[in-house]
Amino acid sequence: MAARHFLTLNDMTTAELEDLLDHASKLRKEWRSGQTRDTLKNRVLAMIFEKSSTRTRVSFEAGMTQLGGSAMFLSPKDTQLGRGEPIEDSAIVISSMVDAVMIRTFAHETVERFATASSKPVINALTDEFHPCQLLADMQTYRELRGSIRGATVAWIGDGNNMCHSYINAAERFDFHLNVACPEGYEPDQQLIEQHADRVTVVRAPEEAARGAQLLVTDVWASMGQEDEQKAREKAFRSYQINPALMAQADKDALFMHCLPAHRGEEISADMMDHESSAVWHEAENRLHAQKALLEFLILNRLD
Ligand code: CP
Ligand code: NVA
Repeated sequence: MAARHFLTLNDMTTAELEDLLDHASKLRKEWRSGQTRDTLKNRVLAMIFEKSSTRTRVSFEAGMTQLGGSAMFLSPKDTQLGRGEPIEDSAIVISSMVDAVMIRTFAHETVERFATASSKPVINALTDEFHPCQLLADMQTYRELRGSIRGATVAWIGDGNNMCHSYINAAERFDFHLNVACPEGYEPDQQLIEQHADRVTVVRAPEEAARGAQLLVTDVWASMGQEDEQKAREKAFRSYQINPALMAQADKDALFMHCLPAHRGEEISADMMDHESSAVWHEAENRLHAQKALLEFLILNRLD
C-alpha cells in the first residue's frame, strides 16, 4: 500500500481531520493527567530540518518519545543531503530505515519530491508555501476553547505567507470564511485565492478584516529566508499590528492566535501575548498533541 503523506491539509478529508482533532484533544487530556501510552513503541521518526525550529522539533521529538518511539534529528549540514545527494535517493534510503519522515525546508517541491520517492509517510513541517501542522494545533485549540469553527469568520492580519496559505486551505476543510488584511504586494498566492474565491476575502484595512471576526491570527512580518527584507517589510507592515484596539473590533468572544515565535512591537503589541483573548500558549502546547495524533494516524493508519 502506498504511504499516506501530510504535505498540506488537502491530504486529509474533513471527516479525517475532525476525528484527528478529537483524538488530539483526548491525547491532551491523557497526557495532562499523567497517563502513558506506547502506541508507537519501537517506531522511529526521521526529522530533517533545513530551517530553525523550537516548537516543531520539541513537539515531534517529545511526541515520539511519549508514544514509546524515538525521533532522529537530521541536519543538511551533517548529512549527505547538504552535499548534493539527490532528494529521491535520500528518500528511498531514509524511508527504508524509519517509520515516518518529517521535513522542514524552503521549496514546497522538495517535500513533494521526497514524498514521491518515500515508502513511508512524509510530514510537511513547514515550507515556504505551507505549514499544515500548525493548523492542526490552531484548529484543535479553537475547538477546545470555543467549539466548532464552522461558519465562523477568521481574520488573518499580515503577510500572505505559508501560514496564511494553510489558513486558506483550512477555511475550505473546516468550513469558515477567511478575511485577509495585507499591504499591496504581500497578498497570498493568487492561484490559491482563485481556487478558494468563495472562502477568502482580501482587503487592505486590518479593521475591515477584524470586524466581527471570531478569531484573529497573525505571523511575523519577515519569515525564515526573508531576513534581508526585514527593513522593507517593517515599513510595509507598520499598520498591520494586532493590538487591543484591533481586538476590540472583533467579536466579544474572539480569540487571538499566533504560531510563534512572535515579535512584540511588530506584528503584535507587547500586551497581546497575555491579553484575555490570547490562546497562544494553549495553541503552542497543542502542537504536541495534534502531531501525536497525526503520527498515530499516519504510522498506524488508525486512531485508537
Ligand atoms: N510555530 C512553529 O512552527 O514554531 P517553530 O519555528 O519554533 O518550530
Ligand atoms: N511564517 C513563519 C512561520 C514560522 C513558524 C516562517 O516561515 O518563518
